[in-house]
Amino acid sequence: MILETSKNAPIGVFDSGVGGLTAVRCLRRLLPGEDIVFFGDTARVPYGSRTPEEIHRFARENLDYLLTFGIKAALVACGTISAIALDDLQNDGIPVCGVLIPAVEQAVSVTRNRRVGVIATPASIGSGSYQRALEARGCTVAANACPLYVPLAEQGRVQRGDPLVEEATAEYLAPIREAGVDTLILGCTHFPWFSEVIAAFMGEGVELINCSAAAAETLAGMIGGGTRREGGRLEIRVSGDPVPFAPLAERFLQEKDLRVQKARTI
Ligand code: DGL
Repeated sequence: MILETSKNAPIGVFDSGVGGLTAVRCLRRLLPGEDIVFFGDTARVPYGSRTPEEIHRFARENLDYLLTFGIKAALVACGTISAIALDDLQNDGIPVCGVLIPAVEQAVSVTRNRRVGVIATPASIGSGSYQRALEARGCTVAANACPLYVPLAEQGRVQRGDPLVEEATAEYLAPIREAGVDTLILGCTHFPWFSEVIAAFMGEGVELINCSAAAAETLAGMIGGGTRREGGRLEIRVSGDPVPFAPLAERFLQEKDLRVQKARTI
């Protein structure tokens, strides 16, 4: 599908759920004049335990849905789709940016000892995409999947001191800390919500790379800095129940009166 889009058309952002809001938050700060349409596929979250076939299908369906809004660019705010299916999304006549390469490039630019950790979903880590991209740039990689982080974030449980969050963090990150990395990629967009607890566990010498922030910067470059308008609108659609998503979105984005609508069924 190729659509004519104008400079004032919205940017489309999608993910399986609240992870994608880490990218929305960065875009809202970086490009405050841009309208954004966010789609959270909450009826099908988590993606990280899906097969590659399902991930390819969801990627295509989600982008096709956002194209119906006449978007001028898309941010694929999902590490899993970025790791497995990004190539499927490059032929629609608009710029499409995933999170993997921006995160990897930022990590390579900050590491001093060239030992880089990456945590992401089981599907992303299983695909080996992060590891290959880092190794191709001369890094030694310590990688681990963190399956519990996604359901915890979807419940809004991300704080330090939450026993489940602390336990999951210790279990997932102990081998990465052991490996002596000086840089850690949070390679799933849900994970930046856990930055505080992850930073506390990893200690001061380890730089955290937020894949959503890296991707938002890359996308801003791709679209040439955006419009000059102020007060860009944010439209949120989810495939699951919009009622519990609204307070989560307001809390995570620190914005009030966000309207969350049910997306047409995919
Ligand atoms: N936030 C997505 C990612 O970055 C998907 C997580 C999931 O649904 O498992 O991988």
